[in-house]
This record gives sequence, C-alpha cells and structure tokens, in this order.
Amino acid sequence: MKTQFARKALAGVAAIAALGITAQAAAQEHSVPTYTGDVGRIINDNCVVCHREGGVGPMRLESYDQVRPWAPLISMRVANREMPPYAYDQHIGIQDLQGDWRLEQDEIDTIVAWANGGAPMGDADVVVPAPDLPDPGQWTFSDQFGEPDLIIPSSPYDIPASGNDLWSKEFVSAGNTEARCIKAVQVKPRGDAAAVVHHANSSVYVEDENGELQRYGQLTEYAMGKWGEIPGDGVCRTLPANAMVQWDIHMFPGGVGATAKGDMIENNVVEIGLWFQDPGYEEKPGIYKQDLSLYAMREGYQNGELVIPPHGTAMTQGFHSFDHPVRIDSFQPHGHLRMRAASLEIYYPETGRLEPISQISNWSATWHHSHLYERDAAPLLPAGAVLVIKQWYDNTADNPNNPDPDQWVYDGSRTGDEMSHAWIAVTHLDEEGYEQLLAERMQASN
Ligand code: HEC
Repeated sequence: MKTQFARKALAGVAAIAALGITAQAAAQEHSVPTYTGDVGRIINDNCVVCHREGGVGPMRLESYDQVRPWAPLISMRVANREMPPYAYDQHIGIQDLQGDWRLEQDEIDTIVAWANGGAPMGDADVVVPAPDLPDPGQWTFSDQFGEPDLIIPSSPYDIPASGNDLWSKEFVSAGNTEARCIKAVQVKPRGDAAAVVHHANSSVYVEDENGELQRYGQLTEYAMGKWGEIPGDGVCRTLPANAMVQWDIHMFPGGVGATAKGDMIENNVVEIGLWFQDPGYEEKPGIYKQDLSLYAMREGYQNGELVIPPHGTAMTQGFHSFDHPVRIDSFQPHGHLRMRAASLEIYYPETGRLEPISQISNWSATWHHSHLYERDAAPLLPAGAVLVIKQWYDNTADNPNNPDPDQWVYDGSRTGDEMSHAWIAVTHLDEEGYEQLLAERMQASN
C-alpha cells in the first residue's frame, strides 16, 4: 500500500509540473486516497450490489463519474455507518458474523480521507476490477449447489405503475411429499419483479389432525439486497412434508429508488428456491435439529399490552431458557418505527454472569437483518441458561424515524403500530453434542 502511494505521489508531482496544479495532483502529493487506488474497490465490493442499474439504491455508483458528485454524502453516510445498511454495534458482544455488510474502520477512514481530499480519481490508466455480482436473475447458490431442488412460486400478480403499497398474503402448496433438511434457501423476485418487491417473508404451515393449518415456523425472509441463507452443515432445518407456504409480500407500485421505471409489472412472481441435504441427512450422527422461531418479549407490557405514550419511551424484555443445551445461530430483532434499540444477552444462573451477545442501537425498520453468528463464535448454552432479549422504544421527536410523536402507540402489525419479538435460530443439542462442541472450541483456542 505504502509503495503504491509513493508511486502515485511521484506521478502527482510530474502531473503538477506538466499541467499545473489540479486538485487531483495536489491531493496525491499529500497521499490522499484515490478512486482508482482504493476507494473504487471498496465501493465496488460493498455498494454497487444495490447502487447499480436495476438496483435498489437511489443512484448508481459504478464508475468514478457516477461516484464523484456524491463524495460528500457518501463520506457522511459511511462515517455514520448508515451505509452499507447494516446496523449492528461495534465492540459489544459477538462480532464474527456471516454476511456482515459493515465496512472495516480503515475502509471508512479511507473513504472519508478521499472525500475530504477532493475525491481524486488517481491514475486514470488503472482499471478498478468490476465487482463479481450474480446476475440479478440468477440463483445466488447455483454456482455452489446447482439449480434449486424445489422452487415455490407465488401466484402471478399485476402491479400497477403507481399507487399505494400493496401486500399479498396468500397460501401456496410447496408440493413436497417428504420432509427434508434445508441446505440453502433463497427468495428471488422473477424478472422485473425485482424493482417492485420490497420484502417477502414466508412461513410454513402444516395441517393438523383436524385438517386445520397450524403454523410450523418461519421458512425464510427476503428484503431487497438479500441473497439467501445457508442454515449450514451439521444442522437440519426441516421443511415438513406437504408444507403450505404463506407468503407475505410487500410491493411498491412503480418501483423503488432512482432506477424505478414507473412501469406496470405484469405477472409479478416471487420464488423461493430450496436446496436440500440428501434424504436421511437428519439420521446421521452429530446432526442436530435447528429451528427459526419467534421469541416474544412481554415484560414491560401494561395489562398485556405494549403502550407507548406520546413523547414517551418504553422498554420490553423477554426471558427464554431450554431444558437441554443449545447453540444460538442467528438473531433478528423485530420492531417498527418507534423501536430504537435491541439486544440479546445470556444470563447464567449458577454464576450470575450476564454475557452481552448482540446489540443494535441504531435500529431501522427499513432493513431487517438476521445476524448470523460464525459457527465457531455462535453462543453455546448449557441447559438452564437464560436468553435475555430487550427492546427499547422512543416515541419522542428525537427519534428520526418517528412519523408522529403525538400519537399513542400500541401493538399491532401496521407500520405505525409496534411489535416486540425477535427471530432466533436455535440448534437443539444434547449433553454429548454440547460437550463435544465445547471441546472443539477449547482445542481451537489452544
Ligand atoms: C443493500 C443495498 C445497499 C447497499 C449495500 C448500499 N446502499 Fe446506499 N442506499 C441504499 C438505499 C435503498 C438507499 C436509499 C434509502 C436510504 O437512504 O436509506 C441508499 C442511500 C444511500 C445514500 C444517500 C443518498 C441520498 O440521496 O440521500 C448514499 C450516499 C449511499 N447510499 C451510499 C452508499 C455507499 C457508499 C455504500 C457502500 C459503502 C452503500 N450505499 C451501500 C441501498 C444500499
């Protein structure tokens, strides 16, 4: 890195001599980072996935000419850790996450120094490598696993060119007669639907003995920019036999962002692609059941209800323990516009220790992330340890997301109501599996 800058500085001096002082040459003389030097790579690797033709971002950031006018705003959003959109606190709890969009601090510093130094292009002959992005129409895991084993499409839906948000909550049959362990799952809007589908959740239901549909659990969740989920080896997240999938699709007529075309989208379809483990995978030794479930927080409720007064705040809390050892694989808090912060801790009753696991203190309801712990960092809980989940709500004018601090807010599923729960993926272990995973970690840390 140093020698590269030194070479640039020399080139800068030559440029000054030849052309007079340009902002670029002057910048290079002081070793200001440049677009072709470092900044272009950082932006290509972390931003272009959304800020490209057809992406969800409001502008394109695919070339120096496109990036340059936005430099001050980019610097601000990046320094505040608002872009890339991934709110998860630094320095608290587990920091080893899969699919973590956060920039490294030195990348942030580089962008800020570049913007402050006049956002120079750098050596015009250097070509910044284009990002290796999947074609928007391609399944993310097709290179790794081939085409999905099962594709579950939603029913076609025409979306007008303009108008209010639309929601679809239909049931469709998954079409599977056998239970299978899910290796990977992705939700993908088909074709033009990518511009109008903001998010799409899917839950699994199965018929009980009375022929009534009972909720089995969450299948997966899609939000713009999300690529899919791999529950991972060593666990079985089950798609039950004869599953019914309930879609919950949120659509914006006319599309989102500057790339929205304002066209009517005919036959809008969202697909779930599922890749399965081999049949019988769950029977193998060392394979444990994983489920993704909703954990409610009801402490702090008043007479069974969440009540947030105008210009007031509220706090909720929930406790959950298991009668067997578990591993916590992911954490996704859920709230709406008044929620500002959420956390996950573990309380060990024997020692009284309270261990911080995850903290999100700059929550935004626009981006729903499931924070997936790296396997060797995922919390291992002995039987009886308690998950302590907390959420904090701010109905004052200080909350930048608050549409109206004069309102009383109660629980409900509309955006203006509030909710208090978290989605947590838990692998259910036995004593033997727990001891073994502990021993493996001890060994790895020695
Ligand atoms: C997952 C998709 C996604 C990624 C990744 C992403 N952005 Fe964004 N960006 C958006 C969306 C959507 C908006 C508009 C909504 C908002 O401001 O939150 C936005 C807004 C912005 C804005 C504000 C534009 C305005 O007019 O106010 C800037 C600046 C920005 N992004 C820069 C970046 C940079 C720089 C990166 C990479 C370091 C990045 N973004 C990564 C989706 C993304």
